[in-house]
Amino acid sequence: MVDSGRKHLVGDHCKSCLIYYGDDVLNIMSEEDKASSSDNEIITIALGFVLAGLAYGYSRKKGVLPVERDLLGKTFVVTGGNCGIGKATAHALVSRGATVALGCRNTDAGSKARTEILASIPVSNEEDLEVLELDLNSWGSIHTFPQRLQQLGKFERGLYCLINNAGAIMPEYSEKGGLEMTMRTNFLGPLGLTMNLLPQLRRYSAGAGAGAGADVARIVNVTSRLEKNSKLSDIELANGPTGCGSQQNYSPMAAYSDSKHAQLLGSLGLAKKLEASEKHNIIVHAVTPGMVSTSLSRYLSTPVQWLVWPLQRMLLQTPEQGAMAVVHSATSRETRGETGQYYSMSSSGDFSKVFDGASERSRNEKLAQSLVENSMTLIARSDSDKDTVQNVNKTPKG
Ligand SMILES: NC(=O)c1ccc[n+]([C@@H]2O[C@H](COP(=O)([O-])OP(=O)(O)OC[C@H]3O[C@@H](n4cnc5c(N)ncnc54)[C@H](OP(=O)(O)O)[C@@H]3O)[C@@H](O)[C@H]2O)c1
Repeated sequence: MVDSGRKHLVGDHCKSCLIYYGDDVLNIMSEEDKASSSDNEIITIALGFVLAGLAYGYSRKKGVLPVERDLLGKTFVVTGGNCGIGKATAHALVSRGATVALGCRNTDAGSKARTEILASIPVSNEEDLEVLELDLNSWGSIHTFPQRLQQLGKFERGLYCLINNAGAIMPEYSEKGGLEMTMRTNFLGPLGLTMNLLPQLRRYSAGAGAGAGADVARIVNVTSRLEKNSKLSDIELANGPTGCGSQQNYSPMAAYSDSKHAQLLGSLGLAKKLEASEKHNIIVHAVTPGMVSTSLSRYLSTPVQWLVWPLQRMLLQTPEQGAMAVVHSATSRETRGETGQYYSMSSSGDFSKVFDGASERSRNEKLAQSLVENSMTLIARSDSDKDTVQNVNKTPKG
C-alpha cells in the first residue's frame, strides 16, 4: 500500500498518519521521514489533547448544566436552607433554573450556604438565590418575612412554592407564648408562615392561567415517619396542640413525633381548607425525605452524637438523596393534580404515596380541619406579637 510516498505493508500501522499497518513500519523510514514523522506525532498528540480537552469540557458542562432548566421563572421559599436537606433542596432547585429565597434564622450560615451553592452551579446568577432572616419561633419574624420577600422584587409575580423544611428537636423542655418550642418550630410557626405567605402564593396561581393544564402554587411540608409514634390524643389535636410534656416529663423524641404528626395531619387540613377557598389553585403536600445524614442529630446529647455520627454517615442517605423527594413533590406534574397527599421516595428512586406507612389518623379529614382551625386560633392567642397573629388568623379571600 502507498501512503505519503512511503511504502507500508498492508496490516502495518503508520504512526504519522495513525493508520494501522504493522509493527516494524519505522524501520523502512528515511531520517527525513523520521523527523517529519516525529513533528507529525507532536502535532497529533497536541491535537489529541485539544480534542480531549474540548470533550472533557463539554462533558463537564453537560454534567453541571442540568438537563432541564425547567424551573426558570419559578420562585421558591425554602425554610432552614442553610444546611442539611434544605440546602440540598435549594441547590437542586437553583441548578434547574429556579429563583430561591432561603429563610434562615442564622443569616451568616445562610450566606455561607448561598456562596457554596452558587459556586457549585456555574450556570447560576447571583440573583437566583437570596437569604432572608426567618425565625419560626418569632411571630414578628414570621410576620415581616413576606414583606422582605416582596421587597426583593423577584417575587413580584408571586410565590410558586413554599417548602416548610426547617425543623428542630428541642433537647430540653422550653416554651414561649404558652407554646412548647418543638411544636412551635415544627408545626405552629410554619403554619403561621404559610398563612402569611398565602397572598404571594395566590398571586402566582392567578398569573398562571386557568383551566385543566394551568399551573398551581404549592406548599410542601417536610415531615417524618416518626409522626407515627405520636401519643397526642384526638382531643389535643382537635383543640390545637400546645406541645407535649412539661418540665418534669419532657422527651425530645416524643415532642418531635408529636410535632411531625401535627404537621402531617395539618397538611391534610390545610389542603382541604384551601381546596374550598382557593378552588384548587394552591395545593398542599407532605413529604418524608427518609432517613438522612444531617446535623439534626446535634440536638442529641454529646455522647449519643459521637455514637450516631459515624453510623449515620455510613448508613443513611445523603442530604442530596433526601432532597430528591422534596424537590419532586414541589415540582413534578405528577403531584400537581392532587392536594393533601403524603409522599416518599424509596432508595431506588421510586416516588410514591405513603399512606401505608403513615398513621391511620393522619388521613382523618375532620380532625385535620379542626386541627388547622384551632391551631390558627392558638397562634392568635400566643402572647407575643399579637398584631401578627391576627393577620395569620384571617380567612383568605380570593
Ligand atoms: N434528617 C432526617 O433523617 C430527617 C428525616 C425525616 C424528616 N426530616 C425533616 O427534614 C427537615 C430538615 O431537617 P435536616 O435533617 O436537614 O436537619 P438540619 O440539618 O438540622 O436542618 C434543619 C434546619 O432548620 C433550621 N431551623 C431550626 N429551627 C429553626 C427556627 N426556629 N427558625 C428557622 N429555622 C430553623 C435550622 O437552622 P439552624 O442551622 O439555625 O439551626 C436548619 O437550617 C426537618 O423538618 C426534619 O424534621 C429529617
